[in-house]
Amino acid sequence: MSLNFVGSFPFHRPRRLRQSPALRRLVSETQLSAAQLVLPLFARAGRKLRKPVNAMPGVFQLSPDELLREAASAHEAGVPAVLLFGIPDRKDAKASGAYAANGIVQQTVRLLKKELPQLLVITDVCLCEYMEHGHCGLIQQGKSGARVLNDPTLELLARTAVSHAAAGADVVAPSDMMDGRVRAIRGALDREGFLETPLMSYAAKFASAFYGPFREAAESAPLFGDRRSYQMDPANAAEALREVAMDIEEGADIVMVKPALPYLDILQRIKAEFGYPTAAYSVSGEYSMIKAAAANGWIDERAVTLESLLAMRRAGADILITYAAADAARWLK
Ligand code: PBG
Repeated sequence: MSLNFVGSFPFHRPRRLRQSPALRRLVSETQLSAAQLVLPLFARAGRKLRKPVNAMPGVFQLSPDELLREAASAHEAGVPAVLLFGIPDRKDAKASGAYAANGIVQQTVRLLKKELPQLLVITDVCLCEYMEHGHCGLIQQGKSGARVLNDPTLELLARTAVSHAAAGADVVAPSDMMDGRVRAIRGALDREGFLETPLMSYAAKFASAFYGPFREAAESAPLFGDRRSYQMDPANAAEALREVAMDIEEGADIVMVKPALPYLDILQRIKAEFGYPTAAYSVSGEYSMIKAAAANGWIDERAVTLESLLAMRRAGADILITYAAADAARWLK
C-alpha cells in the first residue's frame, strides 16, 4: 500500500482517535504482549549459585536448580520461552563442553523439560563460551596471526546442536556466524531423527560493541583479536539481507537480527523482504544502558523498556529476546 498525502491533506483529525484509552487501543497498529518474549539465562555448574553479572543488574549466572526457579517465576509471569547459554567448568581448544552429553546446557535442558514441560526451551548453539581462546570457531595460529577455521568448525556446531536436541531442546539457535552452519546443523539434526526441531538462526548478527556486558556474563570475551572476520560490519544493510537469504535457503525456520534497537532498519527490511518469522535480540548493552540510566533516576525504566520493545514490534519483530522479559511480562499484565 502506498500513501499519497498530496492534494488530500488534511483529510482527518487524528486527535479524534485519541480521546480515550479504549479508542486508542482499537486503532493501535502494534500489539506488545508477554506471549512474544524470550528470556536469556546463563547456566553454570553448582548448587544454589546466583552469581551477579556486574554490568547487568538483575542478571545472574545460575546453577541448574536456581535457573529452574528463575525460569519458573518468569514462566509464571507469562514468559513462554527461555534461551539458554552455558558456562562450562573447563574450556579447551575444541570446545568439548559444548557437545558433551552431560554438559551444562544439556543437563539444564533436561531439568527444565522435566519440571516445566510447557516452557519452550531454546538453546544458543555456539562454541565461544567453551573455547579457551573465546572465539566462536576453531583457531589456527599462523605466521600472519590467528585464523578462524570455518569448515572444520561446522562439524562441532552440528554435534552441539544435536546434543541439545537429544537433551530435549525445543529450538536450537546457532549464533556463531560461520558460513554454512545452518545447512550443516539442519543436515545433522535430520540425520539423527530431529526432523521436527526448528532452527532459529542468528542470521544478521553484527560485530557489535553492545555485546560487552554479555561477554562478562558468559565469560566468552576473545583472548585475542575480535569477531569481525565472522560477524557482520555494522555499516552493511544489503549484506544483512543476503545473510538472511542464505540462512533461509539453508533451512532456517526463524531468522534473527542482533542487536535490536540500533538495527531497527535492518529488522524492518528483513521482515518486509522475506516475511519470515523474525526475532529481535535486544542485547546486553541495550539492557545495561537502560538499567544504568534508571539507577541514576534519569529515565523511567518501565516506560523506556516497554517503548523499546514496542518499537521492535513496530519494525517487524515477531519474537523479542530480552533480559527484561520477566519484568516486561509483569508490567504488561
Ligand atoms: C555468542 C553470543 C554472543 C551473544 C549471544 N551469543 C556474544 C558475541 O557474539 O560476542 C551476545 C548477546 C548479548 O550481548 O546480549 N556468540
